[in-house]
Amino acid sequence: MASFKELVFSGVQPTGNLHLGNYLGAITKFVALQNSHDCIYCVVDLHAITVPQDPAALTANIREVTAAFIACGIDPKNHIIFNQSQVPEHAELAWVFNCTARLGWLNRMTQFKEKAGKDRENASVGLYAYPALMAADILVYRATHVPVGEDQKQHLELARDIAQKFNNDFSTSIESNGFGDGFFPLPEPLIQGPATRVMSLRDGTKKMSKSDPSDYSRINLTDDADAIAQKVRKAKTDPEPLPSEEKGLEPRPEADNLVGIYAALSDVSKADVLAEFGGAQFSTFKSALVDLSVAKLGPIGAEMKRLVADPAYIDSVLADGSERAGVLARKNMNAVKDILGFIRR
Ligand code: AMP
Ligand code: TRP
Repeated sequence: MASFKELVFSGVQPTGNLHLGNYLGAITKFVALQNSHDCIYCVVDLHAITVPQDPAALTANIREVTAAFIACGIDPKNHIIFNQSQVPEHAELAWVFNCTARLGWLNRMTQFKEKAGKDRENASVGLYAYPALMAADILVYRATHVPVGEDQKQHLELARDIAQKFNNDFSTSIESNGFGDGFFPLPEPLIQGPATRVMSLRDGTKKMSKSDPSDYSRINLTDDADAIAQKVRKAKTDPEPLPSEEKGLEPRPEADNLVGIYAALSDVSKADVLAEFGGAQFSTFKSALVDLSVAKLGPIGAEMKRLVADPAYIDSVLADGSERAGVLARKNMNAVKDILGFIRR
């Protein structure tokens, strides 16, 4: 397999209610990777329309995710922040991948089954084909590393299968076009740490999600100190004090979740948190968690508010990022066209 220059790519959907799960599972990783890698972070608006969206709300949500990226510490000058629809090569490569991916592969995607629910006949074709677009997002840059939360693992495996099948199907043409023994890297998921799957504050067996009807299920990045405090205090727990060992968290999903959140927010392990709070009552632990959450998230929410009040600035960041991303995507898309045997100007 050819060797590829390391490049990080990830995406977040502009579907409102950015929450602590997005922050701990994805965005904090995005921020950290800037020190070691070139990074491209995308507001995936084409993904958002796989389910119905109100156009005005979509515009606001694209700006809000962009503001969150910047407020959390992503540098749009040294790295790239942009929205997907401004680089048409994503959709173009997605079509090619629709012809690479097999129906059998997509039929296995658990997220489609969850999102389509019982009324599958009425789900959009886009919702079904979405993992091929996600593969295109990554591979149109020939990106090698993809920080995501646990829920995206299966989609990343599909992206690797698509890359591999494309490399195999066109191996002769890839070689004769001067790309050695593989055009696409097999992108690696980066899923690490104590909060790769942050759970609902109301139910420790359900993922924290943007679309949960209960706002008490999640901490939004725009929540103020009072809201954060209320939500943490109301978070579901059990009557036992915290255990001293991680093993003691296994049958206690709510306790496990809160300890994981505390660990991720303070950048230590769950074992470290239990060394400090083992034997403590939840009332004590929750007070500490409120202080920590407010200290970490308060400044981010305030900065997001400041940024979204200046849409012209946000839009200029996206325009600049799209232009730079577009240059990279075009070059790779042209190579794909050559490999496929298309004629181009
Ligand atoms: P989405 O909001 O679905 O676009 O997700 C954006 C990123 O946040 C993806 O990398 C997801 O895997 C991650 N993510 C979403 N929800 C959670 C969660 N509850 N816990 C951890 N990561 C999450
Ligand atoms: N599917 C991801 C989600 O729902 C978002 C996404 C789209 C993405 N394209 C991507 C993530 C490419 C990583 C890489 O969270």
